[in-house]
Amino acid sequence: MIDSGPHSRRFARGWHCLGLERTFQDGKPHQIDAFGTSLVVFQSRDGQLNVLDAYCRHMGGNLAQGSIKGDAIACPFHDWRWGGDGSCAEIPYSRRVPRLARTRSWVTLQRNGHLYVWNDPQLRPPPEDVTIPELEGYGTDEWTEWSWNSLLIEGSNCREVIDNVVDMAHFYYVHLVKPTSFRNVFDKHIASQYMSALGRPDIELETNYGQEGLVMDSWATYYGPSFMVNGQTLASAGQSAEGLLINCHYPVTDNSFVLQWGAIVRKSPGMSDSAAQELADTFASSLGDAFLQDVEVWKGKARVDNPLLCDEDGPVYQLRRWYEQFYVDVEDVSPEMVARFEFEVDTVTAQDKWDKEIALNIASAQNLVT
Ligand code: FES
Ligand SMILES: [Fe+2]
Repeated sequence: MIDSGPHSRRFARGWHCLGLERTFQDGKPHQIDAFGTSLVVFQSRDGQLNVLDAYCRHMGGNLAQGSIKGDAIACPFHDWRWGGDGSCAEIPYSRRVPRLARTRSWVTLQRNGHLYVWNDPQLRPPPEDVTIPELEGYGTDEWTEWSWNSLLIEGSNCREVIDNVVDMAHFYYVHLVKPTSFRNVFDKHIASQYMSALGRPDIELETNYGQEGLVMDSWATYYGPSFMVNGQTLASAGQSAEGLLINCHYPVTDNSFVLQWGAIVRKSPGMSDSAAQELADTFASSLGDAFLQDVEVWKGKARVDNPLLCDEDGPVYQLRRWYEQFYVDVEDVSPEMVARFEFEVDTVTAQDKWDKEIALNIASAQNLVT
């Protein structure tokens, strides 16, 4: 029987990407619905992006509907001014500001052209070694700017996204590439997937995925519960491209989340800026197409805490044990959740069976034509 597990309203401890910095640098406050509440993002005069609880501690006005005044965000209801550090900077109609007037200010990180926010139900600051790394190449002339997209997914918990890290077989059935090698490494707050795959010649698609002759090498690493960097090299018909893709999300409620994805690509010698940017857009849209394939499955599936597995499935239980570290108090993180773990899926049988299926598919397609 399926065990759907206990329902938890807790949100993962860790860094979550809220989007591109440039989206928030337009002089306006932005509302972000996340972690079961609403946040406001605004840029103060010093250029810094600040994240506060959206609801004003005075009488609940929504600061995202207010305006930026100097270094503070002004509430639309009675004009109380809140600084980026969460302190009440001014009440324009009052003799003095109540001594302890504060709202919640969220810890932020601006890096790689992104804005990240730290969520911790225990309200502690992030440990120094738990961070989002600087992406090599980003911000240099050699690489493009982000091509970026986002999508609100309702009726699903964000943990469904995570299972993909170990799910070798779904790449063939859902993403229409044939994995030829597949390995996972988990260590502390980091989880990686290393995969090589070939396009399926029995599938004709407009995107990069599934083209005949496509050879794909990919490493994908989660830094914490929600931010994945995916390096991909794609080669097809004598052409090759190198891209960095991002797959990240933040929870809106326990039953909805915002999925975001984007790409930058390395400009090859002689490639014009616009051609490179176009390639990044293609990368991002292929990734988007791949997500939409996943989303269809997520929408219709049940939550399963006790999946029934076969030999060729990756280490689903170990991955979930790793993921659990973000949902318990720091004191309750057990050594097994953060211990180094490595696993390589044996793809030999799967490849053999898939090759036969592909040959049959091609033969029957040719019969239909002739
Ligand atoms: S509710 Fe924000 S100033 Fe009154
Ligand atoms: Fe997937």
